[in-house]
Amino acid sequence: MKKLIIALFLTFVSAGSFAAGGASVPMDPIDTDIRDQESLQRGLALFTNYCFACHSMKYARYERAANDLGIPNEIFEENLIFGDAKIGELMEIAMPEDLAKVWFGSAPPDLTLAARLRGPEWLYNYMRGFYADSKRPYGVNNVVFKDVGMPHVLADLQGVCADKPQLGVEPEVDPLSGKIVKSSGCEEFSTPGKLSPDQYDEAIYDLVNFLEYVGEPSRLQSVELGRTVLIFLAFFFIFVYFLNKEYWRDIH
Ligand code: HEC
Repeated sequence: MKKLIIALFLTFVSAGSFAAGGASVPMDPIDTDIRDQESLQRGLALFTNYCFACHSMKYARYERAANDLGIPNEIFEENLIFGDAKIGELMEIAMPEDLAKVWFGSAPPDLTLAARLRGPEWLYNYMRGFYADSKRPYGVNNVVFKDVGMPHVLADLQGVCADKPQLGVEPEVDPLSGKIVKSSGCEEFSTPGKLSPDQYDEAIYDLVNFLEYVGEPSRLQSVELGRTVLIFLAFFFIFVYFLNKEYWRDIH
């Protein structure tokens, strides 16, 4: 019993330390949908263009992503693979880890399992949590991951928020004008970006959707298989029902 209590205690402590860097800040919810293939394709494009320079996805293969996302192999190879990697290879990067540590303070982790480790909600808020902070080496900080070593790589899309963005705010609508008067996000930008706040949120939705898919690609198939099995069971039930009736006919 004592051992069990200690084990339980350790589980909670380690779970808590995993969450380190993500002190309990309010967060906006996200409802991912890995069956939305177009969203996954946009997320993948964003990932390869903006994240893949630093973060590997070394447990995923290009080819699997191409097939699951319905992208023909040639188009994938031409547009989404940089350098001379082949479509059958794992999604590795060339950046040496020791140098990355020197540049950023800590090496950018592999992101294949990021959505399983941190959860989609954390990722969604983290990518929307950057703000200007002149005390940090790259001029930005993050409300979800304090003193993060990662630069705000999507600053050209989002812009740079002048102050801490408010996350997890219940939207408030002015009953007279019907306008939203209070909502999550950044109030003022010190540098403007190319996208509107809503467009940026949608882009991050796609990105997180993609990260969620990559964390467990076989889920796409299991969802599909689950549906087929249920349909089969429904039909099977009809046969079993009549067979059962047939068996009992002479007895009753
Ligand atoms: C210039 C290099 C660089 C690029 C490009 C980059 N990151 Fe990072 N990222 C880092 C570094 C460095 C860290 C580690 C930060 C730390 O531990 O302080 C990090 C950390 C993270 C983390 C936190 C991981 C964890 O669980 O601790 C996530 C999530 C992440 N990056 C996502 C992204 C996404 C998504 C993109 C693309 C939109 C991206 N990064 C682009 C350098 C980069």
